[in-house]
Amino acid sequence: MADLKTDSIFLKNLRGEPTERTPIWVMRQAGRYLPEYMAVREKLSFNELCRTPEAACEVTLQPIRRFGFDAAIMFSDILTPLAPMGAAFDFSQGGPKLEKPIRTEEEIGALHTYDPEEGTDFVAAAIKLMKENLGDKTPLIGFAGSPFTLATYLIEGGGSADFATLKAMLYTRPDLLDDLMTKLTDQTLAYLRMQIAAGVDAVQLFDTWGGILHPADYARVVLPCVKRILDGLKETGVPRIYFLKGSAPYLDLVTTLDVEALGLDWTMDITGTLPRVKDFAVQGNLDPLALFGTHDEIRRRALEICKAGTAARGHVFNLGHGITPPTPIAAVETLVETVQGFRR
Ligand code: CP3
Repeated sequence: MADLKTDSIFLKNLRGEPTERTPIWVMRQAGRYLPEYMAVREKLSFNELCRTPEAACEVTLQPIRRFGFDAAIMFSDILTPLAPMGAAFDFSQGGPKLEKPIRTEEEIGALHTYDPEEGTDFVAAAIKLMKENLGDKTPLIGFAGSPFTLATYLIEGGGSADFATLKAMLYTRPDLLDDLMTKLTDQTLAYLRMQIAAGVDAVQLFDTWGGILHPADYARVVLPCVKRILDGLKETGVPRIYFLKGSAPYLDLVTTLDVEALGLDWTMDITGTLPRVKDFAVQGNLDPLALFGTHDEIRRRALEICKAGTAARGHVFNLGHGITPPTPIAAVETLVETVQGFRR
């Protein structure tokens, strides 16, 4: 009988075990570049989709069926678990928007932590459904946003070009930011534990905006919260991936973390980075916009990354950030064919 834990080349690479070929999945692999995803979105809003287990399961499976990726990522959003805290984002205007940003002591105090088995019961139900449908062939990745990345959306009330409000808080009332970070850290740890109990095979912590700070501020504000979450999950034995976009300036700090794998964005050269991340599996790191290049260029760059990855403790091929909506399907097909055809 097949056993996911021993047979999945994705999980093996995360654990640093040798495999013949390089596994591949891509961040945001379920999403708007897929016509079948758009068809589901015609019937359901983004929030409805995230809260309906059957639909979330369907869109999780779509990229697996189409491309045969070596791992599935559960469909949801990093902002979804904030709604039961009292901060529900609206996605109908394009980017996520909060009706009222969370900025004052009262607003932060009013955010409440909750039991994820109750507040996000639909996520647990979706994971169980996804696991049933994926069977013993394709592992399922659970995820959460890092407390700092979540804090940027809460404080700014959505996306931001410069994070001016958050930075003003950091430089005037760091205690307020710390209070918010503590709450988000407690909630995120509980949320990921719930996902693991529901059956995910690996977890990824997305830190999209952790890279906007001076390294000393990253070390004081962000790193301890990330560490508390990763350490709190260790006993589960489920492999953990930390993806910090723009992590190059923080590499000496990030490598103090006890984590199986580090996500690298496309600005980092794998070969040059490896000596500094010897104890970790790496995940990455093709520029998502390289998928707009010629197919020869996609093949050339993908192979370069696969070859560089052979010297790592483990390598999971991925993009250096999420795939963008207008990416041509044929480019993804070429990428997957190239990576899955490469032999170490
Ligand atoms: O990777 C996957 O396929 C799983 C699902 C997933 C989504 N978002 C679905 C989504 C995951 C893992 C995320 C993570 C996420 N969400 C991050 C961290 C990673 C990153 O990309 O930086 C962040 C910062 C968010 C917040 C968010 N969600 C934004 C800024 C937006 C709008 C703009 C955009 O990039 O799409 C979303 C919406 C969202 N999340 C969509 C999808 C498929 C598009 C919504 C739609 O269908 O209209």
